[in-house]
Amino acid sequence: MAAASFLFAVCMALSTLSGSLVTGTRSFSIDYKNHCFLKDGKPFQYISGSIHYSRIPQYYWKDRLVKMYMTGLNAVQVYVPWNFHEPVQGVHNFTGDRDLEHFLNLANQTGLLVILRPGPYICAEWEMGGLPAWLLQKPNIILRSADTDYLEAVSSWLAVLLPKIKPWLYINGGNIITVQVENEYGSYFACDYNYMRHLRTLFRFFLGEDVVLFTTDGNTDKEMTCGSLDGLYATVDFGTDTNITVAFKRQRRFEPQGPLVNSEFYTGWLDHWGDQHAMVGAQKVSRVLEEMLTMGASVNMYMFEGGTNFGYWNGADHDSRFRSVVTSYDYDAPLTEAGDPTEKLLAIRDVIKQFRDIPAGPMPPATPKFAYGFVTLEKIGNISSLLDTISPLGPVQSKYPLTFEEMKQYYGYMLYRTTLPHDLTEPTPLISPLNGVHDRAYVSVNGVFQGLLQRDTVLVMNVTGKQGDTLDILVENMGRVNFGSKINDYKGLVSNLILGKDVLTDWKIYPLDIDGAISRGWPHSNSGKSVTSPRREPSAGPTFYTGTLQPNGLAWDTFLKLIEWTKGQVWINGVNLGRYWPGRGPQQTLYVPGPLLSTSLPNNITLLELEGAPAHLRIVFMDRPQLNATAGKS
Ligand SMILES: *[C@@H]1O[C@H](CO)[C@@H](O)[C@H](O)[C@H]1NC(C)=O
Ligand SMILES: *[C@@H]1O[C@H](CO)[C@@H](O)[C@H](O)[C@H]1NC(C)=O
Ligand SMILES: *[C@@H]1O[C@H](CO)[C@@H](O)[C@H](O)[C@H]1NC(C)=O
Ligand SMILES: *[C@@H]1O[C@H](CO)[C@@H](O)[C@H](O)[C@H]1NC(C)=O
Ligand SMILES: *[C@@H]1O[C@H](CO)[C@@H](O)[C@H](O)[C@H]1NC(C)=O
Ligand SMILES: *[C@@H]1O[C@H](CO)[C@@H](O)[C@H](O)[C@H]1NC(C)=O
Ligand SMILES: *[C@@H]1O[C@H](CO)[C@@H](O)[C@H](O)[C@H]1NC(C)=O
Repeated sequence: MAAASFLFAVCMALSTLSGSLVTGTRSFSIDYKNHCFLKDGKPFQYISGSIHYSRIPQYYWKDRLVKMYMTGLNAVQVYVPWNFHEPVQGVHNFTGDRDLEHFLNLANQTGLLVILRPGPYICAEWEMGGLPAWLLQKPNIILRSADTDYLEAVSSWLAVLLPKIKPWLYINGGNIITVQVENEYGSYFACDYNYMRHLRTLFRFFLGEDVVLFTTDGNTDKEMTCGSLDGLYATVDFGTDTNITVAFKRQRRFEPQGPLVNSEFYTGWLDHWGDQHAMVGAQKVSRVLEEMLTMGASVNMYMFEGGTNFGYWNGADHDSRFRSVVTSYDYDAPLTEAGDPTEKLLAIRDVIKQFRDIPAGPMPPATPKFAYGFVTLEKIGNISSLLDTISPLGPVQSKYPLTFEEMKQYYGYMLYRTTLPHDLTEPTPLISPLNGVHDRAYVSVNGVFQGLLQRDTVLVMNVTGKQGDTLDILVENMGRVNFGSKINDYKGLVSNLILGKDVLTDWKIYPLDIDGAISRGWPHSNSGKSVTSPRREPSAGPTFYTGTLQPNGLAWDTFLKLIEWTKGQVWINGVNLGRYWPGRGPQQTLYVPGPLLSTSLPNNITLLELEGAPAHLRIVFMDRPQLNATAGKS
């Protein structure tokens, strides 16, 4: 069958001068007979790149879109992360860095069409694959299925999102040509057609009958079977190591007619902490792109710019064990994390030139970078001594530990406090028998750091102390699993801890609103008052440090390197830059977008160092990133 016929049945959209057929009305559809998309009645092939507005400060959106346009792309592919827009059930945010319509408008002004992927699940190596963690308040919810609570939440969300989208559809005068339903659903165990049908009904209800809806799945029969549905055009995704003929043949089994589409052609790959930095060669990417375009396929490059997992937005995988994604989402993409054109971008542009006229004029240059140099920090105090400030609500008392979800604090860090039930003169094992530390616990007795427990890998450590001593366990949520069957990823102490022979009980659980405290001006507004210990003396265990980068009139991009710091989180001028873990790597520097910096006021830096600061207490701002040094073990 297929092989020969589809190979010869090439969509000629880019390689011929399209005729002068003018219909006068805007339309976008699938021409099944000619294996093409049809835009305003003419054959159309897209060459697109993925960009996530949630990973790039709004200030830079236009710059990145212009660079994509100048590479010769005619479309961008965009995910909408549900949890970014509905942080609390029923409370929506579409402003600032979350202003989706502004992004669509900028893309339209730039001359780029949009392939929109509104989920509700997006994967994307994003926290919980874009699903809001508040869904987990129902303990046994089956996500991505026809579970009634899940469907109710999805329906409410799509009833807010899709009406915003509708005017942006190409057929309605906007730039959205196609809309994806769910995402790689066939990779999920549930394979629940009732769920997919429900989504299809909602998308049709809110967007109308005329828009092209599609699905994307991994390139196996099982995935294509569970992920595709009548009325949703089935597409595949694959990278440079896949046999293109075999992959498109599989799409043909599910869509015997219509355009060939690779919805995610991988230009690079993600990193987990402890990985070697993933890289995919420019020649390989451009060669495979050329082959696909020659076949007439429409191709989206994933990613074209990856950007950054600011704050707590990184996802995680859980295959053999829990592995969280690093802060940078550089992805070795054609535009770097900081939006700079690379050799890979130029190689891609050279390929695209063979297929369509690319815009005249120069590629916008890299944004300027500056090495602001060293800043020496001061210690503010350890977590335990700052609870009045960072946990204004105070603790919740509970016999057994409560999860983050039960506490309704979904991200970041939470403190669990109890007392030692006996004297422990000998080192006594503190055990997580059910592997219930999600994901990393920093343990202190009377403020003295004792060590840590870690999901899947460190389930026991020793503790000493006296009966009645305070046992503090700071638990870090390192990002919820975004892929596979383990996305119900509850955080905190999700089961009991045992000390010696005793189950630990009678907890005080402190929700921590560190980001709130920092956005209210702490610690810089009362610097000095809260310093209770010698400023230059480093200490082990979770501790805050602060400092200022003096303004020098520039607000250029820079990269923060934390040499000899262990693991933690950094804020600059109230913005949470993300996690650092240089000993684990491969990421060594955090991207600091220039627009965050003040040219005239002191720039306020706060660090939460979880394990141990270096004696020098210095950090350094450099003019280039370093993402590829794996110093430690994984
Ligand atoms: C909405 O999101 C923007 C961008 O992240 C943020 O600045 C703003 O504070 C948020 N609004 C609310 C009400 O939380
Ligand atoms: C998109 O841009 C075109 C011109 O480039 C303009 O005519 C059109 O009104 C814009 N659409 C929207 C929805 O803003
Ligand atoms: C891809 O697979 C086809 C069919 O199995 C085979 O004929 C072809 O040689 C393969 N191509 C490459 C580059 O391996
Ligand atoms: C934490 O801070 C408190 C209050 O300043 C202090 O008593 C305690 O010793 C500190 N712990 C460590 C390990 O520095
Ligand atoms: C705990 O202490 C005991 C006795 O000193 C020792 O044998 C054991 O290796 C220690 N365990 C850990 C996890 O450090
Ligand atoms: C840093 O904090 C100080 C003290 O609160 C404040 O005066 C200053 O404006 C802050 N700097 C910036 C850039 O916001
Ligand atoms: C890391 O990246 C830098 C800059 O791209 C490069 O010069 C260096 O050789 C790379 N190091 C490793 C270990 O790959």
